[in-house]
Amino acid sequence: MLFHRKKQLNQSDRDNLRPMVVSRREFLMWSGAVGALCMLPSGCGYYRPESGPAYAPWDWPNSEDTREWNAVGAAILAASPHNTQPWRFVIAGNEIDVYADLNQSLGALDPFHREMYRGLGCALENLCLVAEDSAGSTECDILPDDDETHIAKVSLSGSGSSARSELAGRIAKRHTNRGPYVDRAAPSSLEADLNDLVEDAEVRLTVIRAEADRKDFADGVIEATKAIIDDTEMSEASHRWYRHTEEEINKYRDGLTIDPMGLGAGTRFFGKIGSRPDTEKESKYWLKNTTRYQTTAGAFCILSCSDKTSRLQQILCGRTFQRMHLFADSVGLAVQPLNQMPERADREEELGLDPVFGRRLQAYVAEEVSPLMVFRIGYALEETFASCRKPAEWVAQEVSGT
Ligand SMILES: Cc1cc2nc3c(=O)[nH]c(=O)nc-3n(C[C@H](O)[C@H](O)[C@H](O)COP(=O)(O)O)c2cc1C
Repeated sequence: MLFHRKKQLNQSDRDNLRPMVVSRREFLMWSGAVGALCMLPSGCGYYRPESGPAYAPWDWPNSEDTREWNAVGAAILAASPHNTQPWRFVIAGNEIDVYADLNQSLGALDPFHREMYRGLGCALENLCLVAEDSAGSTECDILPDDDETHIAKVSLSGSGSSARSELAGRIAKRHTNRGPYVDRAAPSSLEADLNDLVEDAEVRLTVIRAEADRKDFADGVIEATKAIIDDTEMSEASHRWYRHTEEEINKYRDGLTIDPMGLGAGTRFFGKIGSRPDTEKESKYWLKNTTRYQTTAGAFCILSCSDKTSRLQQILCGRTFQRMHLFADSVGLAVQPLNQMPERADREEELGLDPVFGRRLQAYVAEEVSPLMVFRIGYALEETFASCRKPAEWVAQEVSGT
């Protein structure tokens, strides 16, 4: 097994952890915050993490639901780019059809919908894990007809459990962790463990572990973040999915919010009670957090495929990523997708620009494959919070079976 779940911290881990210890300054800041909170009129901006109807879908599985509704309930807990949840489901008897919802597009951030299809692959992986787990035998027909938005037809038949139950058991526990990780190379066994989860010949994994390579890769992520921020259309496309208040979160139940951003308690508190940041301010925080925390890692990983324009390969790549994230969670490792370089490479392709980031990312993988998905993996210094979700009833309907 790649990492030990509990481990002794060495000096550099302690240095990493130091910012987590409450200092006198932080204590005073907190006292001030509590005082300020007492003086705020009711209806102020503070809200508790993971509370309210937008987080109810995480209470899964539901013993009163059919296995088909429980399979959809698992699918909606999957990762998706900017938490766009670009999926729709139709249940007919023991069949579930999965569709793409193109209204949930990221626009300039994902001009070819490649991220969207990877997100759909994530949902399909959760759905199939649970379908196999509850039905024993499952058929999954990916892109079953000429309709590019018809992602899959999944048929549940039989009863029983599968050998992959352990991954299914992590579905409601898995969250993207955007906080700092222990910044030390992962053991070499990580690559073999993750490679064991690659089930499709079209998908290839690259693991970047060595310190100098990780540093170089982190620089690429930071440079790509700056390039996105400097591109007004891209940064505004990102900002459209930011939900600031509890009211917005409960209204939309998608998008990015403060709690799962991997920030300290004080920053989250002041972020919530403060006014809504504009695109420029949000971009500034994003760059700061990417530079300081989100490029710390045991390893950076790239999932590639032979044809990045293939919808099938994008879906398979998403399925593989979701499987790896569930596995990582089961062994105490944190994961965060970091797709600034692929996003910028797609934008360069869309606008016919010099492929600065396309080239930079390609340099890490074999010539015959194209990089699609990037993530970091390692030991997080803190647990994180769940992201909001639309309930299954908002994105699924049941029709009479054939
Ligand atoms: C294809 C894809 C790309 C993503 N890219 C990023 C990214 O670049 N940065 C990031 O912080 N999270 C990224 N995410 C993670 C999503 O933001 C996250 O899954 C979503 O907010 C829901 O949160 P959860 O994974 O904790 O349930 C990506 C997820 C997917 C599926």
